[in-house]
Amino acid sequence: MAAFIDFVLNQLPPAPGRVLEIGCGREGGLVEELVAEGYDAIGVDPEAPEGERFVQARFQDYEPEGEFDAVVAGRVLHHVRPLGRGVEILARFAPLLLVDEFAWDLIDPAAQQWYEGQHRMLRATGAEPPGPRSIDEWWSRHPDLHPHWLVLDTLRDVYSERRLDWEPYLYRWLGGPSSEQLERTLVEAGAFNAIGWHFAGVRRDR
Ligand SMILES: C[S@@+](CC[C@H](N)C(=O)[O-])C[C@H]1O[C@@H](n2cnc3c(N)ncnc32)[C@H](O)[C@@H]1O
Repeated sequence: MAAFIDFVLNQLPPAPGRVLEIGCGREGGLVEELVAEGYDAIGVDPEAPEGERFVQARFQDYEPEGEFDAVVAGRVLHHVRPLGRGVEILARFAPLLLVDEFAWDLIDPAAQQWYEGQHRMLRATGAEPPGPRSIDEWWSRHPDLHPHWLVLDTLRDVYSERRLDWEPYLYRWLGGPSSEQLERTLVEAGAFNAIGWHFAGVRRDR
């Protein structure tokens, strides 16, 4: 299973239920897909789109009425500071947390070489991959992201781990027609690490 929406739908209690997505981004994240599946979903992000299902705020400043059934956090926790306090706030929102994350710190030289080569090849065919050309250049622009182990350790302090799936990730920066399958094959062959991870955690008794 690769797409985060599939992971989320698999882990959520059956609809209807209330779901809060933090860091839904300008495109609104999974909110509309969750609504289409019968959930009452709200997205909170300073960059959220306009609309009744979106709140343009940091989740730390959001004061919802009542509890949600789950919080969804797609590629946002590695930005959150202070992280421990942020995760405590998420645990107040809902008993279940579903996370899509990116272990940038596990990109090893083999993965970097493969990714940059694929990026060059796609550009040569006229494509415009959404990710950076150079991983080193990307790292230099993002010096203060949390490494994956810190995010996971912080989550495990507050939630018991129900599921942790490691997944290919770099294909999302490439966008080529075969990128996902190629990356999956290389990860499964042990050529380099899986970089993406999906976590489902259930809030511990407090
Ligand atoms: C990399 S984007 C991810 C967007 C989307 N979830 C996705 O996976 O494509 C990270 C998003 O997190 C948002 N963000 C960062 N800190 C936040 C906070 N404290 N509360 C809510 N959103 C936050 C940013 O505004 C940005 O839209």
